Amino acid sequence: TWTTGNIVEEQVAAIKAQVGDKRAICGLSGGVDSAVAAALVQKAIGSQLTCVYVDHGLMRKGETEQVEKDFVAATGVQLKVVDAQERFLAALAGVSDPETKRKIIGREFIRVFEQAQAEIIAEAEGGPEVAFLVQGTLYPDVVESGGGTGTANIKSHHNVGGLPDDIEFQLVEPLRQLFKDEVRMVGQELGLPDEIVHRQPFPGPGLGIRIVGEVTRDRLDLLREADAIAREELTAAGLDREIWQCPVVLLADVRSVGVQGDGRTYGHPIVLRPVSSEDAMTADWTRMPYEVLARISTRITNEVKDVNRVVLDCTSKPPGTIEWE
Ligand code: XMP
Repeated sequence: TWTTGNIVEEQVAAIKAQVGDKRAICGLSGGVDSAVAAALVQKAIGSQLTCVYVDHGLMRKGETEQVEKDFVAATGVQLKVVDAQERFLAALAGVSDPETKRKIIGREFIRVFEQAQAEIIAEAEGGPEVAFLVQGTLYPDVVESGGGTGTANIKSHHNVGGLPDDIEFQLVEPLRQLFKDEVRMVGQELGLPDEIVHRQPFPGPGLGIRIVGEVTRDRLDLLREADAIAREELTAAGLDREIWQCPVVLLADVRSVGVQGDGRTYGHPIVLRPVSSEDAMTADWTRMPYEVLARISTRITNEVKDVNRVVLDCTSKPPGTIEWE
């Protein structure tokens, strides 16, 4: 019979068999999926695993610190942090097309991993080869990238369809058959703390696909502020578990007229996209309390420069996807 204990045992055995005495690296995104995949592989091969956290500058407020502190504390995993902010910004300069952004981000990720791999090999001179890359790919990612049971290709999720062809690693994907709720149970079984296990989903390409338009440092800073306010208010209202996730999106190429103080403004809209879902394959927009929406809207327009309007996305999936890009 099916239990999370079985899944852990089975996967640990499978990972041991696949990796042997070689070494693996695992990218941590700050999300549940990569954290659980890393913890599973850590359990299987221990110090043969090194985790790499790429700070691509597309993270939300406080996320880098959470990975550096909480995850390492919970698992004792070896962690290498790479600051790649400049590199990602340069690669994304002038790009507005969603699929192009996803491809660029996926490609840069792999390049940074390859550099990290070279460094890890150099540091462990004479040790076993680093031949494996651990990915927290879930079943819905596989299906939606067209790799599953014949479903059309919807988006290039950066950890599946967005990978370049000349990838140098063999992939270890222990969560490939699981849905999100199962991943959370496996994380719990592995003893990961609640803040990690019950984290709302966040896409690998990060805030890069929540800016409709070109990604720039200023726009990222602006969106990070708006997102932090929305998350703070949702948490304060006790809605974290009720809402599956709430992307906060900046319509960077759109401006509208507003009035603030005694002046006319011509600023950008922020979109709130609260959704309820079981597995992200389908979703409904969350009918969240008006008072919470009002607080988020007031705070964002007061506290975030150049934002003069907050709008609510009341579209289910389908026809909308959860993310805007
Ligand atoms: P969509 O926008 O396709 O999103 O309805 C479904 C779920 O997947 C997340 N998402 C991603 N996760 N890499 C990821 O790891 C990605 O490239 C990616 N794109 C979307 C999204 O946040 C939602 O939970």
